[in-house]
Amino acid sequence: MTAPLDASLPDHSFSTESPPRRGHEAPIGIFDSGLGGLSVLRAIRAQLPHEALLYVADSLHAPYGARDNAFISERTLAISEWLVSQGAKALVVACNTATAESIALARARLAVPIIGVEPGIKPAAAQSKSRTAGVLATQVTLRSERFRSLIERYAADCHFICQPGHGLADAVERCDIDSPEVRALLARYIEPMLAAGADTLVLGCTHYPFLDAAIRDIARDRLTLVDTSVAIARQLERVLETNHLSAPADRQPAPPRLCSTDNGVHMHRLASTLLGLDGPVECVSIGTRGGTPDQSHAA
Ligand code: DGL
Repeated sequence: MTAPLDASLPDHSFSTESPPRRGHEAPIGIFDSGLGGLSVLRAIRAQLPHEALLYVADSLHAPYGARDNAFISERTLAISEWLVSQGAKALVVACNTATAESIALARARLAVPIIGVEPGIKPAAAQSKSRTAGVLATQVTLRSERFRSLIERYAADCHFICQPGHGLADAVERCDIDSPEVRALLARYIEPMLAAGADTLVLGCTHYPFLDAAIRDIARDRLTLVDTSVAIARQLERVLETNHLSAPADRQPAPPRLCSTDNGVHMHRLASTLLGLDGPVECVSIGTRGGTPDQSHAA
């Protein structure tokens, strides 16, 4: 761990007076309510090995899944502006919940390309033979207008069993991906889907791919899991190309810069055990617009 980063930073606001240079070499900013977006970072690293990556986990405020919309929008804007102030050339909102609630707002405020993540309703509908699929996502995602519209547009002929994954993001935040408690919670959510004939399960929260081994133990070969992280990485590649922002193909970037709004201990553990990223985690304080900055907790 390193000491809190931004005791010295003025605040999260993006200064338009002296904008950082945003060339091909600039990093891609990625964020999530917490550690879940590391599943997206993993896919981006595999797809775009020449890109520099800057990741923020808002673990001090995780989970977002039961928060109100205003809170999620405030955090999305504050973190997006902070990433831009650090020189990010494009942003990935690696959080279904933040995408559902606030990506439109972030796009309206910031002048960099912003890519979001959405539950894989379209691929699930394309592959389900039984025409019954489960969706595990946060309550905020499931009740959002964007989610309703995804179902209407791509899956009107498919029956979706939508289950809020209460407790699952908290478990991943604690680095608990296979305890008896987390397995029991998953079984409680997944077994009714199996009983209803589901053959496909959409992982509609970026925390859940880290639970895939436990999910496969419960579902065996009865469910095909749909995780959109690889599709997001490909979409990011297209957006960078269209905007002439891709890093040179011969570049060897430094390892991803990992930042957390809490003490970073769990982030370090998850990143090193599951992603092989053993570097330091920077503890950052990103205050909410108009509010008092959060206290950093040095590890
Ligand atoms: N990982 C996030 C998502 O994809 C949010 C989980 C949470 O904070 O509740 O929705």
